Amino acid sequence: MCGIVGYVSSSTPEAAGHSALDVVLGGLKRLEYRGYDSAGVALVTDEGQVASAKKAGKLSALTDELEARPLPAAMTGIGHTRWATHGGPTDLNAHPHLADGGQLAVIHNGIIENFASLKAELQADGVEFLSETDTEVAGHQLAKNYAATKDLTEAMRLTAGELEGAFTLLAVHADQPGTVVAARRNSPLVIGLGEGENFLGSDVAAFIDHTRKAVEIGQDEIVTITPDSVDIIDAEGSPVEGTSFNVDWDTAAAEKGGFASFMDKEIHDQPQAVADTLLGRMDADGKLTLDEIHVDETILKSIDKMIVIACGTAAYAGQVAKYTIEHWCRIPVEVELAHEFRYRDPVVNEKTLVVAVSQSGETMDTIMAVRHARQQGAKVVAICNTYGSTIPRESDAALYTHAGPEVAVASTKAFLSQIVACYLLGLYLAQLRGNKFTDEVRVILDELQQIPEKIEKVLQLKEQVEQLARSVQNTQSVLFLGRHVGYPVALEGALKLKELAYIHAEGFAAGELKHGPIALIEDGQLVFIIVPSREGRDSLHAKVISNIQEVRARGANTIVIAEEGDEAVKEYASEVFYVPQTPTLLAPLLTTIPLQFFAMELATMKGLDVDQPRNLAKSVTVE
Ligand code: F6R
Repeated sequence: MCGIVGYVSSSTPEAAGHSALDVVLGGLKRLEYRGYDSAGVALVTDEGQVASAKKAGKLSALTDELEARPLPAAMTGIGHTRWATHGGPTDLNAHPHLADGGQLAVIHNGIIENFASLKAELQADGVEFLSETDTEVAGHQLAKNYAATKDLTEAMRLTAGELEGAFTLLAVHADQPGTVVAARRNSPLVIGLGEGENFLGSDVAAFIDHTRKAVEIGQDEIVTITPDSVDIIDAEGSPVEGTSFNVDWDTAAAEKGGFASFMDKEIHDQPQAVADTLLGRMDADGKLTLDEIHVDETILKSIDKMIVIACGTAAYAGQVAKYTIEHWCRIPVEVELAHEFRYRDPVVNEKTLVVAVSQSGETMDTIMAVRHARQQGAKVVAICNTYGSTIPRESDAALYTHAGPEVAVASTKAFLSQIVACYLLGLYLAQLRGNKFTDEVRVILDELQQIPEKIEKVLQLKEQVEQLARSVQNTQSVLFLGRHVGYPVALEGALKLKELAYIHAEGFAAGELKHGPIALIEDGQLVFIIVPSREGRDSLHAKVISNIQEVRARGANTIVIAEEGDEAVKEYASEVFYVPQTPTLLAPLLTTIPLQFFAMELATMKGLDVDQPRNLAKSVTVE
């Protein structure tokens, strides 16, 4: 969690037209989705003075503080937006933390696991602590090493070697204006390259207003930026060549684009996100060409099991994948929450293909599960939205979803593009393994191309959903029912509502209702039912109609999502949301959208912050 920015420039604020503070605050604004418990900045003036400010609450609390008590002009700065781990969200626990008599400032993302023993040693040396954070321990440890070496880079290298856990650590020192030093382990950090200025950020959004040239920083590497240089070394102190890449997100993509919230914008981005994820993945003959999958074809042909590991919404994308990949490839697919997978001694070997699904690529639970799977000999394919992040870097291959930056904490467009990427992987494996479903694969690929247009149509339901939300805005509990691929959609609908509107919501497999949950149904209980299409699948459609009748007979207020032309559902529904017809396996790309709108509208009506729900962070970088 936590957003981190570092900046150095050789210009004066007058010549550059901005100060380090402007750049750092601009970066923090874009990174605020990573955590918003507190924010802070530290600047180093050319005269060698460290000046800092920090405040509990959102970034606006810090900017108010800076207006009331301005900091001196400077062209070197670091900034932090926090998602609290060690120590509550207070002013004192906010970053930066100062050490070396206020001459050294540090900011940190992650958790330092051996902070207690280091703290005891430092306290024995007479160091006094002001906060409850693990970060302050790192700051004083760095100060100790700086006192011994008088070299901030070397001190950072030594400190990184002494810390256990996950961290991105950035530091500035009064002795070295024009220098920011950083270290990373299991926590994100990228470099932005400018002309006479350089940047550090938790992700490229931190500096996208200034440069598109970026460099990845590897595990356990130390980077030192000055206005004219970027030097990376490894844990032993040997120079390292970073991997450069160009950021192809445009600035507008990282802004709200006229919508009331990022979430609203990102829901409307979905036709494009799906189209972009499909883009360039087929040759002229309509065959899938996933060049990114660098796993040997003979291995892919020989795998006898797949396991999808992911968390939250990404895991629901994995559940959709299970239905599709098993059907197309006839390979057993398990879906497991990444944090459960690793601690369960799962049966994984060289014939297992593990698929790690993650928007951020930085979810610690999923990173750890990827490492565990690879240690057992499995090949890992990452499905990820964030270029250069840890999960794709540590996997054998990566299939990127090209959904663009997802800023709202609640995942929307990333979910749809993860489902699409899972389809592509499944269809690719089916193609590779010469499965007998080749005709069906061709039909599905064709149908997939039509999905963006169909999503556009579903987006038109927004007003109808808004009216529904208004009519039920005092509801305290909502149930979601689905079968087959509609089941993960039901789970996703419930998760969205919980995290955004803070009300009780649960998703059930509709067939499970009679085994217990039906006892919850009483007069007026709001129940969403995702009805499968009427094509093929035996009598699943009829079964779900029966499920609707069962809850309606017990007084439920039934809201149905069904395909256009399905007149049969009308009789049993208080309201129907019709989505365009599409093959059953692709339906989640359409049926999810009214549920996203519903959660957003209900939260908005309750006056809640839909982009930054309480207690959450966009990227969960702790276990
Ligand atoms: C819910 C949501 C989370 C994430 C989960 C995994 O709206 O966004 O449940 O899906 O934290 O995050 P990633 O995909 O970044 O690994």
